[in-house]
Amino acid sequence: MKEQIAQAVSHFEELLRQQLERVDQLEKVSASTDYSTLSPLVIGIIGGDGIGPLLVQETRRLLDLLLQDDLNSGRVLIREIEGLTLERRLEWGLAVPPDTLDQIKDCHVLLKGPTETPRGGTLESANVALRRELDLYANVRPVRLPEKGIDWTFFRENTEGEYVLGSSGIEIPGKLAVDFKVTTDTGTRRIARAALGFARKRGKTRLAIVTKANIMKKTDGNFSRLVHEEAGSYPEIEVDDWYIDIMAANLLNPAIRNKFQVFVLPNLYGDILTDEAAQIQGGVGTAGSANLGDRYAMFEAIHGTAPRLIEEGLGAYCNPSSLFRAAAMMLDHVGKTEAAKRLDQALEICLEIEKRLIVTGDRSGACCTGFTDYVLQTLQRK
Ligand code: IPM
Ligand code: MG
Repeated sequence: MKEQIAQAVSHFEELLRQQLERVDQLEKVSASTDYSTLSPLVIGIIGGDGIGPLLVQETRRLLDLLLQDDLNSGRVLIREIEGLTLERRLEWGLAVPPDTLDQIKDCHVLLKGPTETPRGGTLESANVALRRELDLYANVRPVRLPEKGIDWTFFRENTEGEYVLGSSGIEIPGKLAVDFKVTTDTGTRRIARAALGFARKRGKTRLAIVTKANIMKKTDGNFSRLVHEEAGSYPEIEVDDWYIDIMAANLLNPAIRNKFQVFVLPNLYGDILTDEAAQIQGGVGTAGSANLGDRYAMFEAIHGTAPRLIEEGLGAYCNPSSLFRAAAMMLDHVGKTEAAKRLDQALEICLEIEKRLIVTGDRSGACCTGFTDYVLQTLQRK
């Protein structure tokens, strides 16, 4: 037993050392990319696993139309990135094979299909690794349901919390297991500023901090305190604290849910709450997600690879709306605001107004390609 404890302690010491090194890196201020100066702007597209390649292929059809002029003139380049498949990751024993990571880092922004992560074992999620490698610290997830007065934007911290050491826990087999949750001051302050800055820019007046600071006193306690500190520079924004359990209930409570505007929350709570919020909007197939850093940005669906659909032979019936919305967020992020608006409007027509074709995830509804045709036709109508 003594030996097992000693091993665990030295493992912990190494983790602490690595995390303090990460803090040193974080404290070095980095400049933000100015997309308007890039020529060509390079968009990398990554298929992923399961339904991913189909979703990405269909989204590309929309991009090809929306960016037609920029693609023809060479101002924008769409580059397909190969090799981020589960087979290759298992072969390398790495979340992202190094040659693939090099290709990814050569792009400015990325549009990515979902990737699969085996449960247990030590292979880290490709999402988590990419968010870390590209320092994509703000996971921005909008959820709107206009007829119910819902207009929420979640700012999920994307590089810390339970995720940062989620594959580096300690186990004494047959006895116990310990995982770690890490938050840093710099990491918390920057997600707070991202959420507050967004609120100011969009004229939002309320920010909800969501934690479980009554239980996780160090990590969540600091998270809340530091967000309040940063909010001192945004006096026009009213900041409230909520616990994750009651917030999960509040999102379902019609009496108060439409009062919430912007949320800021640690990684795992953000993961869970945004699936719930997306379900309220119409399902996880309907919500887009932006992973933003100072240098890179990656846009993806909020859902996974849909292994059940694939197993049942229903892969072709997957809903591409989540990745379409992510593509609109990407266009907006790189300054292609007109194209972003066109796509958002077309999606609103197809998903909320006309609903001529509905993807239901089974043979009773539209298939992924059929729905994409519908969006393309809608785009071409105007
Ligand atoms: C998400 C996903 C990922 C996460 C998985 C695929 C690692 O659920 O983007 O919300 O947990 O962050
Ligand atoms: Mg999730």
